[in-house]
Amino acid sequence: MKLNIAVLPGDGIGPEIAAQGVEVMSAVCKKFGHEVRYEYALCGADAIDKVGDPFPEETYEICKGADAVLFSAVGDPKFDNDPTAKVRPEQGLLAMRKKLGLFANIRPVQTFKCLLHKSPLRADLVDGADFLCIRELTGGMYFGEKYQDNDKAYDTNMYTRPEIERILKVGFEYAMKRKKHLTLVDKANVLASSRLWRQIAQEMAPSYPEVQTDYMYVDNAAMRMIQEPKFFDVMVTENTFGDILTDEGSCISGSMGLLPSASTGESTPVFEPIHGSWPQAKGLNIANPLAQILSVAMLFEYFGCKAEGALIREAVDASLDANVRTPEIQMEGGVKYGTKEVGTWIVNYINN
Ligand code: IPM
Ligand code: MG
Repeated sequence: MKLNIAVLPGDGIGPEIAAQGVEVMSAVCKKFGHEVRYEYALCGADAIDKVGDPFPEETYEICKGADAVLFSAVGDPKFDNDPTAKVRPEQGLLAMRKKLGLFANIRPVQTFKCLLHKSPLRADLVDGADFLCIRELTGGMYFGEKYQDNDKAYDTNMYTRPEIERILKVGFEYAMKRKKHLTLVDKANVLASSRLWRQIAQEMAPSYPEVQTDYMYVDNAAMRMIQEPKFFDVMVTENTFGDILTDEGSCISGSMGLLPSASTGESTPVFEPIHGSWPQAKGLNIANPLAQILSVAMLFEYFGCKAEGALIREAVDASLDANVRTPEIQMEGGVKYGTKEVGTWIVNYINN
């Protein structure tokens, strides 16, 4: 296979984890005889500083022309505490999602046996938890009409039928491939938009008779996720709820640095960690590269390259078992490995 990959390292720890993702990708391509070419492009605060736009047209063109995008992270503290800033790094990520039509964000929540103790939840609760959060990514409050002045501000949570139908279809199809259990998470007791989601899910459910479909309010789902995470198989939800619930989901795995995601839709798919740019750690070589590396596994799997994905997952498991871990998941008293060293260990594993 020939792969053209757009690499968007972005801000903060982004460039450090992107480098490890690329190393792993190259090692896998070499091993399996794939040809890979990378094209780097600007985004986020880095792009604002250099060209005044968090998702420049040139970056869009590069993404559009690529087979897949390997994205790292955007965000910079100099924008966080300035609510009046006209342009923000996050707008770059949102523009990318919108322009590439990436309406389906697949965020797997999984556990690693050797890291169960890192979850703030009891090991017996999280052991074996394994679900997918399918987050709608190009609609809702993130993109609805907005207004802000000194005395009033609003964001509109709008969804149309086709937007809801296409994401639910993705959800039902994943459920069919998994344990055939779909939970729609909404706030239909309060929000009109949620009632439309629920109505459409009820219309579609009979077409998937093997799937057990249930409906849960988001407040209840937030509780259920930590009370009984094994309840879930495939969870489908709107943009904002999915954003919030997947950060909560990272507590099940034990570290934000472990969760990859795939954003798919109408154009080039994007593979990215669910975590942010962690600016405080920038340049310190302490960020966990595993979410990025597992995003590369999801990239191969997207193209049907199962063995390639499986080898990356095996290498990641082996690194954790060998205690080759970044500081936040390091065993007490163990040797501390940096971002680069964890990546290199995984590359060596793949090469051997
Ligand atoms: C995520 C992030 C983004 C989001 C931010 C950086 C805009 O939190 O991918 O979950 O809210 O979608
Ligand atoms: Mg988020």
